[in-house]
Amino acid sequence: MTIKLLDPRGRELASTTVVASGPNRLFLAGLEVNKQYRNQGYGYKLIEAVVDYATASGYALIDLNIEADNTVARWMYGRSGFKDALVGTNGVSRMRLRIREYMRRKGNYNKDEPIRVVIEQ
Ligand SMILES: CC(C)(COP(=O)(O)OP(=O)(O)OC[C@H]1O[C@@H](n2cnc3c(N)ncnc32)[C@H](O)[C@@H]1OP(=O)(O)O)[C@@H](O)C(=O)NCCC(=O)NCCS
Repeated sequence: MTIKLLDPRGRELASTTVVASGPNRLFLAGLEVNKQYRNQGYGYKLIEAVVDYATASGYALIDLNIEADNTVARWMYGRSGFKDALVGTNGVSRMRLRIREYMRRKGNYNKDEPIRVVIEQ
């Protein structure tokens, strides 16, 4: 299955493949933000879309493989809550996200709601 982000005109911004790799486990591969749209937050947005899909489908874990020298992707996954699960000897590591942890970080509220901050003395 492929999960894509499209802009309002239907242009593809980013995509990734996801496959079930166990009863409660999803494997993510080939995540890519199209070159001209990089560094604008779509990587995080796509991870969020994958997590939403995983949650709705009852998965608990998301696994992926990453090249050790891919520092931007490692940073992005790390900030999204992925942790090193296995460090391979061939320059490829396995990272794993526990959906419950992602939800804890993200909060359980609708990000589109205009939330006001009020400071009272
Ligand atoms: C890795 C990739 C998906 C990131 O997507 P993106 O939309 O550019 O990332 P985002 O804009 O969501 O930013 C994610 C973080 O990386 C940082 N970042 C993005 N591009 C960066 C760059 N070129 N140099 C340094 N930091 C960068 C962002 O500042 C952000 O960090 P922050 O939370 O501190 O602000 C994208 O670079 C890509 O498609 N790379 C090629 C394919 C690839 O490596 N896929 C991963 C396979 S495992």
